[in-house]
Amino acid sequence: MSLFAKRRVSLRITLLVPNKILRFAQHDRDRVGAPACIWPVEDVVLLLMKAKPTSMRPATTKALGKCAVLGFGGQGAAIALNLRDSGCEVIIGLPTDSKSRRKARQAGFAVANVSRAVASAQTIVFAFPDHCHQNTFAKEIVDQLHPEQILVFLHGASVSFSLVAPPAEVDVVMLAPHGPGLSVREQFVAGNAEMSAFWAIHQDTSGKAKKRLMAFAKAIGISGRGKLFETTFDDEAVGDLFGEQTVLCGGLTELIHAGFTTLTEAGISADNAYLEVCYQLDLIVSLIKRFGIEGMYQRISVAAKYGSLKTGPKLIDAGVKKRMRAALKEIQSGAFARELSALTPVQLKKLEKDLKKMTSPEFEKAAKKFRESC
Ligand SMILES: NC(=O)c1ccc[n+]([C@@H]2O[C@H](COP(=O)([O-])OP(=O)(O)OC[C@H]3O[C@@H](n4cnc5c(N)ncnc54)[C@H](OP(=O)(O)O)[C@@H]3O)[C@@H](O)[C@H]2O)c1
Repeated sequence: MSLFAKRRVSLRITLLVPNKILRFAQHDRDRVGAPACIWPVEDVVLLLMKAKPTSMRPATTKALGKCAVLGFGGQGAAIALNLRDSGCEVIIGLPTDSKSRRKARQAGFAVANVSRAVASAQTIVFAFPDHCHQNTFAKEIVDQLHPEQILVFLHGASVSFSLVAPPAEVDVVMLAPHGPGLSVREQFVAGNAEMSAFWAIHQDTSGKAKKRLMAFAKAIGISGRGKLFETTFDDEAVGDLFGEQTVLCGGLTELIHAGFTTLTEAGISADNAYLEVCYQLDLIVSLIKRFGIEGMYQRISVAAKYGSLKTGPKLIDAGVKKRMRAALKEIQSGAFARELSALTPVQLKKLEKDLKKMTSPEFEKAAKKFRESC
């Protein structure tokens, strides 16, 4: 039985929650654009999860040395907690005015500014937003790097599009989890290492980059047969950006919302429309993941099969593929990554506002109703 399989979940909420945190979490439940001191419920849940104390084999923690996790958001908090529970020494690197400093300290971590954290550690984890990498790397990281260090990226774009240029004396690797930080932590705590990830090596100066990368993967709970897929920084960067823009996030939400408004504009109730075009999506995706597209079609009604073939290809036609190719070109050329890195604070604020255009109050109302009642 693996080390992770032996671990049991233990959610000792009442004992471990500082009252203040819990209050913030409850208060936050339905807020949008919450002020700095209010933490999203997910963050609080993440901090409350306790893994059974354990430690990795000394060789694993030795391969990593002291770890600086830069950022304490979705991935950063999960990875820092998992590393610590695996017996690694961890320091969190955050800007001096970061809202996350308090959260990291309350979770019991040492916190320093980014340059000090980088200088003090052997393994440096880039767990902060990609659009900040270029600036932060140039101003606070590059001058602190020294031989023997390993830089771990969680996404390939910054290296692939040359937004950062690590010096030759450090190892540079990537471990890109196939899921959000909350799942990285949940699965570590539960001891069911379901999460998979892409891995790649960009620079192997020490000759031990793969060994160190695998030690990192194990320490954060992503390991075992069939869990790690080798790729390159370039392929991961392009594939990830393309997937989220055209299918997983951008494309999917447009499709759902177009279906929803087509039905409601034709007089069908919002609840009914939501149940038909969104609520069942995960069940269909689950069938596709388990049995393939062909297997999914074998398991739905004749009407659904016939209608899919009649309408699907007309809807997602050659024009969609043409526009997908245009999006791909923009990603491959690095134009998208450069545009992202150049976003100003004002533009980032506007982005949050503009995202509301991807949905509508009617849709959100129906989604909330079924979220709460089911
Ligand atoms: N999210 C995912 O599902 C996912 C999956 C796979 C890989 N990844 C990759 O993981 C990395 C982190 O993504 P994420 O979604 O976890 O990020 P995130 O949650 O948006 O990161 C936010 C954290 O980074 C801090 N931060 C902001 N600017 C910083 C800077 N200049 N230096 C240090 N810390 C800074 C924030 O502090 P404040 O609180 O002050 O803002 C906050 O603690 C990215 O490379 C991403 O592509 C993400």
